Amino acid sequence: MARITAGIGCSHIPALGVASDLDKVDEPYWKPVFDGFAATREWEAANLPDVVVLIYNDHASAFDMKIIPTFAIGCAESYKPADEGWGPRNVPDVHGHPDLAWHMAQSLILGEFDMTIINEMDVDHGLTVPLTMMFGKPAAWPVKVIPLAVNVVTYPPPSGNRCWALGEAIARAVASFPEDLNVQVWGTGGMSHQLQGPRAGLINREWDTAFLDRLSGGSDELRRVPHIEYLRETGSEGIEMVMWLIMRGALGQAARELRRFYHVPASNTAVGHIILEPVT
Ligand SMILES: [Fe+2]
Repeated sequence: MARITAGIGCSHIPALGVASDLDKVDEPYWKPVFDGFAATREWEAANLPDVVVLIYNDHASAFDMKIIPTFAIGCAESYKPADEGWGPRNVPDVHGHPDLAWHMAQSLILGEFDMTIINEMDVDHGLTVPLTMMFGKPAAWPVKVIPLAVNVVTYPPPSGNRCWALGEAIARAVASFPEDLNVQVWGTGGMSHQLQGPRAGLINREWDTAFLDRLSGGSDELRRVPHIEYLRETGSEGIEMVMWLIMRGALGQAARELRRFYHVPASNTAVGHIILEPVT
């Protein structure tokens, strides 16, 4: 049967993709960030899954004000990098896993999570930057990816509790897929950042650190953090962190931290990532 072996929470800052694409990773501003991912890249290479369920948000690339799915799952064979205004990133196409994705769609929808099913979509930095941070610049991505897009751009985003419950439903879906697959779930976005208004540039290291602390262990207290707390403590874009709760919910009752990294600043944003494994 398929099994979830690990979860990764990871920022998806677009400037990290640009730094990689333009070979700036050894410049003094970017080097600490990319160095901070080195041990994680090694861990990921040694624990390479067959499939990554990659939870991210689209930034007005595939969706706009005409259609705003709260939760959307990609069931396609492949996805091209989106043109976000400067041409598509020069990174490989992303290959999906339609059999597992359709199985997940069926399990989730019949389990009362009304997913939007996507059969054609370009994927933006929310999805491709985490792949870059974990795999560098390969000729082809070494894993299949099931994109799972969450609306955190237009109010109202889903609650943290709903996201955690979706993670639990994803765990049931994966566990009932008969093929022997190693699956990781990545939750991306965040950490504290605000891109506009009088509080632009807001970073809250203390809150971010406490959030990372609370992901491991057996407590599910994070599912009850209200939107207003993300807004107040982590800035208007910090709400992206509810997507990490889908990852955490998918790991089951308890999770163990294997590694974390936190760095400020990178493009006016706190960069954080964490590797978790389920405690069985
Ligand atoms: Fe984002």
